[in-house]
Amino acid sequence: MVSEITHELKLHKIGIYEHATEEEKQTLDDLQVDSFIKYYKSYQHSVNDPEGFWAQIAETFTWRKKWDKIVEYDWETPKFEWFKGAKLNITENCLDRHLDKRGDDLAIIWEPNDPNEANRTFTYRELHAEVSKFSNVLKNNGVEKGDRVCVYMPMVPELAIAVLACARIGAVHSVVFAGFSSVALSTRINDAECKVILTTDGVYRGSKAVDLKGIVDEALESTPSIETSIVLNRINANITMKAGRDIWWHEELAKVSDICPAEEMDAEDMLFILYTSGSTGKPKGMVHTCAGYMIHTAYSFKNVFQYKHGDVYFCTADIGWITGHSYIVYGPLAAGATTLMFEGIPSYPDYGRFWEIVEKHQVNQFYTAPTAIRALAAQPNELIDKHDISSIKVLGTVGEPINEEAWHWYDEKIGKQKSPIVDTWWQTETGGIMISPLAGVTPTKPTFATRPLPGIQPCLVNENGEELNTNPAEGRLCVKYPWPSMARTIYGDHNRYKETYFTAFSGKYFTGDGSFRDLEGNYRITGRVDDVVIVSGHNLGTAPIENVINEHSNVVESAIVGYPHDIKGNALYAYVIVYETPENDDFLRHEINDLIARTIGPIAKLDKIQFVPGLPKTRSGKIMRRILRKIAENETSNLGDISTLLNPDVVQAIMDGSLVK
Ligand code: WT7
Repeated sequence: MVSEITHELKLHKIGIYEHATEEEKQTLDDLQVDSFIKYYKSYQHSVNDPEGFWAQIAETFTWRKKWDKIVEYDWETPKFEWFKGAKLNITENCLDRHLDKRGDDLAIIWEPNDPNEANRTFTYRELHAEVSKFSNVLKNNGVEKGDRVCVYMPMVPELAIAVLACARIGAVHSVVFAGFSSVALSTRINDAECKVILTTDGVYRGSKAVDLKGIVDEALESTPSIETSIVLNRINANITMKAGRDIWWHEELAKVSDICPAEEMDAEDMLFILYTSGSTGKPKGMVHTCAGYMIHTAYSFKNVFQYKHGDVYFCTADIGWITGHSYIVYGPLAAGATTLMFEGIPSYPDYGRFWEIVEKHQVNQFYTAPTAIRALAAQPNELIDKHDISSIKVLGTVGEPINEEAWHWYDEKIGKQKSPIVDTWWQTETGGIMISPLAGVTPTKPTFATRPLPGIQPCLVNENGEELNTNPAEGRLCVKYPWPSMARTIYGDHNRYKETYFTAFSGKYFTGDGSFRDLEGNYRITGRVDDVVIVSGHNLGTAPIENVINEHSNVVESAIVGYPHDIKGNALYAYVIVYETPENDDFLRHEINDLIARTIGPIAKLDKIQFVPGLPKTRSGKIMRRILRKIAENETSNLGDISTLLNPDVVQAIMDGSLVK
């Protein structure tokens, strides 16, 4: 570790782009932001001298050639380039560079769906060999740098290996969550014109085995670009292998060596495409590039979770989402961490499964979503109490605003009030965490994502695009300086990228979220601003009203949409899930409206309240308001594609006015 003074000098040197020598080289550990004063200093540094700040972090990585320029950008085109001129391979940073010191440390711990099946582990050395082998399999099958490879696999270690193998040879992976339908899959394959698809014969989900290969076969009927499908045998299913197209994973592996030099990539070469649903139209293929993505995911992982060498980190997401890309695979591995992958679901064999895993593998950092937290909170306490979860040091949440009740439950029951909660706000588009406490460093505040990470410059603007510079403030959340892991384009549609993110407010990235900033500068994400409803000329965000409804002791969850109203323009329609069927529906409706009137004001009172058995949700847990809006408007003839929903059958139940699914 270099001394404080050399360190300061170094910053200055980096400002004029002199690179650190091997001797001066620091590690991410040396740069760990482990006190609030360090956070404050790093943040100031990152605003005053963004290039010097990022250069210092970038110096800790392994490069084939270092950059000529840290950042070059133009909000108009828009075009963002980070570490221009640099050459690297992200897998040399995730694997090769750890071999000397950490070759025998665990890189991946894999926990299967069935707790009685043996878990599997991979040291960095083993993972390096497996990734090299599969890289050779891809090469043998004609995959070249720049080719797109679709990965449609359940949470088995081979999924992580496949993703890294693509990166090693410079192929662009497009992971599609293995719960998506064949239509959703073929749309994504065709958009990216993938040449190869990687899949498995099937997948275990709780007590069910799902025929994944059947879904792939259906999708491949309309995907002309696919030449080969490589199939992993996971469940010994009785499947048909199409001659000339389908080949077995294990047979291909038997033909290759475990040595595969990494392809030299340009900092701005495409690393992957990941689809995210837009509020309208077809899914957006967000494009992430090599160097900037690597640097921000590793740095944010290390600091948000305060990961220390030897810790076991468990993120419950699926690699099919950005959370899995950035915080199961790339971030943790680039930081040399031990990352736990779980194949199953939180309720199998019972709702204590997460806690069983925590105990079994002595998990130190646990990262999940508010939806899961609420589902777990509704279960009996014994399911937690029968496990020793005292290894937990840090709790994380991501994906949607966490309500106060769920936050406190998480803090008390799981964190035992000694494990800081990091409420991490970010998006598929941002690539990595943007606003979040650093565990144990930043004071937390229930329901607040708190402060921007060093290097991230969020701001709030009003409808006219004017930046709000005083606190407290409430407005639309934007980012006013580029950051390394931002998506560079929408695959095949740069114009949509520009329109969606850079047109509403010039010179800024618009997130689509609304946010409140308190007196101290803590950010609270209030929800998508596209879910705003104008009632009698008043701007009403649905999220804050839902939060109030959810405070009622008999309410599990709720969703509000607007529907046309003769006098008010729009009125509010609420779909409410209750714990216990009320004896008198109208009495409960009255209580809810009373609560809203008292907390927000009579203007926010609901015109209609329907009690429902569930809410239609996307696989990532987002309520599909589009569908609820149509039901509220009585326009149910054209609900659009509901097959990608987590719970498509709830839609019919809501239309029937039924309280049971
Ligand atoms: C949207 C992005 C980032 C990985 C998972 C979701 C919402 C995300 C939070 C949070 C409040 C959050 C926002 C954002 N969101 N994290 N901590 N608090 N809202 O990725 O599917 O791209 O969704 O999720 O609305 O814009 P995504």
